[in-house]
Amino acid sequence: MPDDLTAAADPHGALALARRALRHFEAGTTDQAPQIVRQSLAAYTDPDRYALELERIFRRLPLGLALSLDLPGPGGYLALEAAGVPVLILRGEDGAARAFLNACRHRGAALCAAGKGTARRLVCPYHSWAYDATGALKSVYDEATFGPLDKAKLGLVALPCAEAAGIVWVALNPTAAFDIDAWLGDFRAELEGLQLARWHIHAQRSFPGPGWKVAWDGYLEAYHHNPVHGATVGRYTIGNLLVHDIFGPHQRLVFGRKSLADRAGRPEAEWQPEADIRRIHSVFPNLSISGVLGDHALVSLLLPGPTPDRSTTRQTVLAARRPETEAEIAASDAFARLVLQAVVDEDYAVGATVQAGLTTPLLGHFLFGRNEPAIQHYHAEVARLAGTEPPQPVAG
Ligand code: FES
Ligand SMILES: [Fe+2]
Repeated sequence: MPDDLTAAADPHGALALARRALRHFEAGTTDQAPQIVRQSLAAYTDPDRYALELERIFRRLPLGLALSLDLPGPGGYLALEAAGVPVLILRGEDGAARAFLNACRHRGAALCAAGKGTARRLVCPYHSWAYDATGALKSVYDEATFGPLDKAKLGLVALPCAEAAGIVWVALNPTAAFDIDAWLGDFRAELEGLQLARWHIHAQRSFPGPGWKVAWDGYLEAYHHNPVHGATVGRYTIGNLLVHDIFGPHQRLVFGRKSLADRAGRPEAEWQPEADIRRIHSVFPNLSISGVLGDHALVSLLLPGPTPDRSTTRQTVLAARRPETEAEIAASDAFARLVLQAVVDEDYAVGATVQAGLTTPLLGHFLFGRNEPAIQHYHAEVARLAGTEPPQPVAG
């Protein structure tokens, strides 16, 4: 991490978190929920329930669809599909990020192909209607033949959008206005401490995964680290040790790194708390920012698919600075390979077997242990916001 990031990178007490993690390591414990709960399989498979969750969560709440880094200057844009909605996020000449339906007001063609680019003016590829970066319709090709139009009323359909903490937040419904301060609450300061706008995007890719909840559950616990990630991230983290904090619907997960074991019995002045823990900021419902304290970080945006058994993950690998030397490039490439392997070959490979098992109801329900408090909280929040049945305590 560059020196100039150091002071601001720990606004919330790495030492206090390292102390909590070390106490657990020494005692062989972890943060826990009060009880085991069970979750019905319908929460993962029922298409009606899925439709409610899409409508009441993914198409109503602000989603962190882009990093500020994705739109580095005026004209920078990102086009993507999110929960079935084609979205275009675009930075205007005034520096403001705006979001629109990526659909022309004439007959719906996408203004930009999926991906990133730069465009100061958007010309529809179908019949060349042209819009400016604020979404205003500026010209209609051969307008005299088309017929008269009030162009002022035919701007791109705007989606509620705000930029905060290095993230561009978008609601996938033109009428779902939001207050980003209210939505993030105390979590905003946590996210601002990460200084996301100061990093460098080293790699970005999208890949398919199992259903949204099957995939996301894996981002919310350290219980699987030893069994699943023994060859990758499990080499660096202590399995089944979680320091857990809730910020409304959002959560911070802290894992202990193996180096933490060396701190036991040593004076705190000798600790390196930043290096001894790994923080994950889990933004409800689908953005995970992992391992920011170090030279590399991983940002994962998980988007639900067209059916409950499919999802897409947009994975962004950040480096603290643009790697320049051969050694720096090799280190960034190695991190990018490691996290791709851990997620695709390990997490999502297991997730595919979970998903396959969901085709039969014979299992009855899943269990979330006391050592999986973040999964428990997540599913409770989904149920609260979607108005569906929450997980139920398991007696005894
Ligand atoms: S659909 Fe865009 S100009 Fe016709
Ligand atoms: Fe994992």
